[in-house]
Amino acid sequence: MAKTQEAWSSRLGVILAVAGSAVGLGNFLRFPGLAAQYGGGAFMIAYFISLLLIGIPICWVEWALGRHGGSAGYHSTPGIFNYLIKHPWAKYLGVIGFVAPVCIYMYYVYIEAWCLGYALNAMTGRLSVEGMDYGAFFGRFTGASSDGVAIHFGLGDVGLFVLIVYALNFYFIYRGISKGIEFVCKWGMPLLIFIALIVLVRVLTLGTPDPTKPDQNVLAGLGYLWNPGDIATGLRNPQLWLAAAGQIFFSLSVGFGVIITYASYLRRKDDVVLSSLTASAANEFCEVGLGGLITVPAAFVFLGAAGIVGQGTFGLGFNVLPQVFAHMPGGQIFATIFFLLLFLAAITSSLSMLQPGIAFLEEGLRINRKQSVALLGLVTAIGTLFIWYFSKDLKALDTIDFWVGTVTLFIQATILVIIFGWGLGIEKGWAIAHEGAEMRIPGAYKFIIKFVTPSYLLTIFALFLLQNVFGWNYSFSDPQFNPTGYVRDLLGGSDQPPSYVARLSVGWILVMAIFTSILVHIAGKNWTRHNPNKDPS
Ligand code: PFF
Repeated sequence: MAKTQEAWSSRLGVILAVAGSAVGLGNFLRFPGLAAQYGGGAFMIAYFISLLLIGIPICWVEWALGRHGGSAGYHSTPGIFNYLIKHPWAKYLGVIGFVAPVCIYMYYVYIEAWCLGYALNAMTGRLSVEGMDYGAFFGRFTGASSDGVAIHFGLGDVGLFVLIVYALNFYFIYRGISKGIEFVCKWGMPLLIFIALIVLVRVLTLGTPDPTKPDQNVLAGLGYLWNPGDIATGLRNPQLWLAAAGQIFFSLSVGFGVIITYASYLRRKDDVVLSSLTASAANEFCEVGLGGLITVPAAFVFLGAAGIVGQGTFGLGFNVLPQVFAHMPGGQIFATIFFLLLFLAAITSSLSMLQPGIAFLEEGLRINRKQSVALLGLVTAIGTLFIWYFSKDLKALDTIDFWVGTVTLFIQATILVIIFGWGLGIEKGWAIAHEGAEMRIPGAYKFIIKFVTPSYLLTIFALFLLQNVFGWNYSFSDPQFNPTGYVRDLLGGSDQPPSYVARLSVGWILVMAIFTSILVHIAGKNWTRHNPNKDPS
């Protein structure tokens, strides 16, 4: 194995890097979109329960397992699983830890390019170049209006920005853990929070901008998102629980193989318990405290509830907000810095999606950093090109986001807690987590990690299958195959033919999974042949 000497240069550095991975588009776009869609109060209850029962415990598990594997020289999920569990199949359980971040990168970086492009176009006043129709700009810029239209390279097109963000990501990832990732996060994170605070103050001081519409004021905007509404009915909706749990995963970057890789560059006696909690707390501050107070209230104040409903995550950020900024004094500046904020949040996250892949290629295939960066660059570029071309209704992006960004995470997260609580054994896991720890995990979490977290994950996953595969009205007495949503896209429904873009997207994910399994197989052979590491425990 190509033994790396890479390490974080400081404790603050690693916390900022994990927080950088966590704080992203999920905080400023996905979270407010979901909270508004499901009616603030009920959603937040499910959200905080998921944070306590799956988010925080799985973060501890990933930090602990990552540091443990790292001290034996392994930095990727397949490598760490292979080391922890002495069974030939264990390494294959780590395949998702490569495929998920790499596939997510392919579309995330595309949205990152929108953010940079929007920042520049907002600055030069070009967002309204097509009259006041921001929707038309969005459709052409992102390609949502039809396949292939986004593949252009002028200043008002996304192409140039895709190239810039690719170059930046691969430049920094090539520079490595402390000179690349840590460097970007150390500067990017404080700057991001600073900008978010400026935008927040602007939004909270908007008052009642249109005196003829006294109902559209800041307080009512906050209330629109945060008033509890009908909690009891909300909580009875299983879709809400799925969305809340999915958001916790996505937002904390947990279950992807990212935190486990980042933690593997810690030293053996470095604290993980408090550091993990600090990074999660930073994410929650940015999500609930900043993300939750900016987008939706700003949109409400100018456009009222009608302007928000049904916009979806991207519509809110890239279609509604530019209109909102146009109404605001100093709007051009605020629009520019807002999209810059999104770009900063995105790049610290996209870097974290590349590192697990790089680590695996280096240690599994015994190739050097330059070669790993080149190989990963090629594979991800093919994927991004696919998503960029098949952009109508953002179908490819949305399909990959759903199957990888939501579904596989439940599987990977379940594998992680089961390995920690049962494979290693909770007592051994506990001892590993507490080496060098600066605080103790409350004892109740032994029970939670062993029993509650896996049952909670499995229940939510079962609900999901019931809803998406069998159709929500599945009746045991009269079972009918009635797929809905994303499954219907693949198989076709009674009223709709299958979508070939959705099929191609899932095909691409499968190709990635098979390709990775072959690489893991080769890596396994390398690890058996050159087993350079002694068991540190
Ligand atoms: N946590 C990031 C966000 O909230 O935008 C998204 C993310 C980062 C997802 C890293 C997956 C990942 F591996």
